[in-house]
Amino acid sequence: MSMISIYLNNISSAVRYNLALSKRVGIFNKFSAFTMIRMLDYTDNLELCESVSTIQGDVVECGVWRGGMIAGIAQMFGDSRRYFLFDSFEGLPPVTDKDGAEAKKWQDDHTGATYYENCKAEMSFATAAMEQAGCKQFFLEKGWFSDTLPVFTKSTEIAILRLDGDWYDSTMCCLENLYPKVVPGGLIIIDDYYTWDGCTKAVHDYLSKEQLTVKIERTKNGVCYIRKK
Ligand SMILES: C[S@@+](CC[C@H](N)C(=O)[O-])C[C@H]1O[C@@H](n2cnc3c(N)ncnc32)[C@H](O)[C@@H]1O
Repeated sequence: MSMISIYLNNISSAVRYNLALSKRVGIFNKFSAFTMIRMLDYTDNLELCESVSTIQGDVVECGVWRGGMIAGIAQMFGDSRRYFLFDSFEGLPPVTDKDGAEAKKWQDDHTGATYYENCKAEMSFATAAMEQAGCKQFFLEKGWFSDTLPVFTKSTEIAILRLDGDWYDSTMCCLENLYPKVVPGGLIIIDDYYTWDGCTKAVHDYLSKEQLTVKIERTKNGVCYIRKK
């Protein structure tokens, strides 16, 4: 290959990459009022999800708050998939000892900039976000994970499982009930792995309990994920 064609190839892949990135930033801008996720993490989430575009299966998010992250994923894939949104819509449960001192301090400080009323959001926000994504195949599963997940039978094939429930018990409950339903090659995105000790520990405990050898990976901006074998 000549130097000129290498140069032109490099330019065209840079242009393609920038076009894809600006599309993702556009999606973030559309849903930024519905998500707590920072732009770079948000666009990394979308890029990760694009990487499983050829894998069939549902999209499940546990811990949706106002629904802005899963709405962005729905904006990308449209009604070619179904979307399940699990949340108490009553905010986070109380921290336990497994979550550590930082989590307790955060939950006790009702004036903190990231407190958001203990991450409480009305269901109507998530409905509005999914409707703005132009999506019809979405289901809001309201309630505590420990009540809703063990009886959840609507999906048996999950392509993208996004965990954003912050605490140890919430994360563990999601992994125990939903990890087995993720299809080979599917993604498990773990929002709080680098933020909250309880979440980190739940992931380690689950993988160890099930003797799984999957790798815990990280995107360029630090989003944690596992690609199921
Ligand atoms: C950090 S917020 C989610 C942020 C959201 N994914 C976004 O795009 O901004 C955490 C959410 O998890 C929910 N949650 C955490 N643990 C839960 C549990 N055990 N049962 C039900 N909902 C839970 C809270 O209600 C809250 O809406």
